[in-house]
Amino acid sequence: MIELTNVHKAFGPKHVLSGVDLNIAKGTSMVIIGGSGTGKSVLLKSVLGLIRPDSGTITLDGKDVAKGDRDAFLARFGMLFQGGALFDSLRVWENVAFRLRHGKQTLPKHEAREIAIEKLRRVGLKPDVADQFPAELSGGMQKRVGLARAIAAEPEIIFFDEPTTGLDPIMSGVINDLIREIVTEMGATAMTITHDMTSVRAIADNVAMLHGGKVRWSGPVADLDATDDPYVQQFIHGRAEGPIESVR
Ligand SMILES: Nc1ncnc2c1ncn2[C@@H]1O[C@H](COP(=O)(O)OP(=O)(O)OP(=O)(O)O)[C@@H](O)[C@H]1O
Ligand SMILES: [Mg+2]
Repeated sequence: MIELTNVHKAFGPKHVLSGVDLNIAKGTSMVIIGGSGTGKSVLLKSVLGLIRPDSGTITLDGKDVAKGDRDAFLARFGMLFQGGALFDSLRVWENVAFRLRHGKQTLPKHEAREIAIEKLRRVGLKPDVADQFPAELSGGMQKRVGLARAIAAEPEIIFFDEPTTGLDPIMSGVINDLIREIVTEMGATAMTITHDMTSVRAIADNVAMLHGGKVRWSGPVADLDATDDPYVQQFIHGRAEGPIESVR
């Protein structure tokens, strides 16, 4: 469904992506792992067309993501940005229901609010959070509002950039289960970036590790532990010693 072929992206002299190849099949969950600053968020934003690669192709259902109707294209996606990217001046429920009110659909206020409250419940937030502003919430709560917003319009394709970072282990478990459910029950296609190996095992059908601007290793999650790739091994075991340098 999503196909990247030989994707390159540099910012000035800094080569971030240098020949990324990746395929994500419809209805599957791909998890991207890799060190901080290796270009995971850049990769995800490139698929959304928010960052334009210098060369290579990115297609969705065989069509170039940079061409065609942008609104129709983006309407198929739900996205949780790494930094949350909530609208400060909107209440929590208005953030969650934004797509339902201002997108293809324009639901009446009370209906949109009800859906927002239901989505908040799914990410473990009580209804009274709905009328608060993002600045009144903890970091982990803001992250969960971002997640609720990403899933609110029940998109076909969902991208999560660090969905469990900053959450306690129990809440991380709730979010992992939710992501898994969205893929298995709603048939969504998901791409998740995470450093959390528990999440990787809970969410992934397939895993790709980004290193040195390329996909260093990819395969089914069941093969992750068995691979003898020293980069993957160092990463999944969190070892300071290994081929991955700790000063980047
Ligand atoms: N808009 C931009 N302009 C210039 N450089 C950028 C831009 N976006 C990203 N970069 C650079 O690209 C590199 C990869 O950034 P990216 O955010 O993709 O890392 P990441 O793998 O998501 O890291 P982390 O795990 O810390 O989130 C970094 O060196 C970053 O400084
Ligand atoms: Mg990132």
